[in-house]
Amino acid sequence: MKYTIATIPGDGVGPEVTAAAVATLETVGAVFGHEFAFVEVPAGGRAIDELGSPLPDRTLETCRASDAVFLGAVGGPRWDRLEGEMRPESGLLKLRKGLGVYANIRPSFLHPALKDACPLRPEIAGPGIDIVIVRELAGGIYFGERGKRLGPMGDEAFDTECYSRMEAQRIARVAFRLAGTRRRKVTSVDKANVLQSSRLWRDAVAETAVEFPGIELGHMYVDNAAMQLIRDPRQFDVIVTTNMFGDILSDESSTLAGSIGMLPSASLGDGPPGLYEPVHGSAPEIAGKDIANPLAAILSAAMMLRHSFQREGEAAAVEKAVEAVLEKGFRTADIKTPGGRLVGTREMTRRVVEEIRANGGKP
Ligand code: IPM
Ligand code: MG
Repeated sequence: MKYTIATIPGDGVGPEVTAAAVATLETVGAVFGHEFAFVEVPAGGRAIDELGSPLPDRTLETCRASDAVFLGAVGGPRWDRLEGEMRPESGLLKLRKGLGVYANIRPSFLHPALKDACPLRPEIAGPGIDIVIVRELAGGIYFGERGKRLGPMGDEAFDTECYSRMEAQRIARVAFRLAGTRRRKVTSVDKANVLQSSRLWRDAVAETAVEFPGIELGHMYVDNAAMQLIRDPRQFDVIVTTNMFGDILSDESSTLAGSIGMLPSASLGDGPPGLYEPVHGSAPEIAGKDIANPLAAILSAAMMLRHSFQREGEAAAVEKAVEAVLEKGFRTADIKTPGGRLVGTREMTRRVVEEIRANGGKP
């Protein structure tokens, strides 16, 4: 099969980890007989510097015309003083909105080989932290009405959380469908004891549950969920939540997986293309030093193979290669524990690529 993939290396460590994802896909292509054509496009800080916009029109057009999009990371201190629309992050939000990707899937999986990198006590982490956060990505306070004004106490600024029943239902369906392929449990996280928008959300999710008999649904307030993730993470299977709560809880749950450098993500809409990005940001302080963990990007490429190309065997081969490399003791600095063998971004990538080749597509 032939697939076109738009790549946005972006800023900070973005280009380094994007190279790792591209190398992985190229290897998968060679081993399994697919052709991947990569088209690199600018977005984020570099695009602001070079083209005056964090998401040039041509970038969005190219992404829309591709089968899938891979994004490294955007942003950095260099652009931190810019306002609103001119920030690198605003380019990312426009890209998500422009591609219509409303479902952000963020798995938090503690590889057995990384159990020492998880800060929780072994009896709490146990074998098998395996949570997926399904984060609403195209609505809520990220996209609500916002502004600045003069109030009774002087300068004010506001952002608005607004959800429609339809938005809550469609993301709930993604979560229920996903839970059906896993441990059949959905926890919907909201703040319904305070927020009107959360009460509608809760109601809509509960209504949708009726379409999925056999899946257990629970509701949890976000403050409690933040605590439960640390206290007893193994109670969770699929968590479905709003854009901002999902942003916060997915960073929290990344520590459960040993490092945010391990966390991949997929952002999906009702049709192609899907958008794939590591959950970690641009990490400017370690950029260009060949020390960033490429595994989040590599595992995002696996998610692309699974969700955009329906290539389950290929996705599993990448995941298995990552597992094998971890089992052999190779560690980037963020997941290094005593006894591990320290490697850089490029060597880690090379090890994964070699594993994929060595297994030659065997299950
Ligand atoms: C994430 C990031 C982004 C977000 C930023 C960079 C806009 O934190 O993908 O989690 O808040 O969605
Ligand atoms: Mg975030």
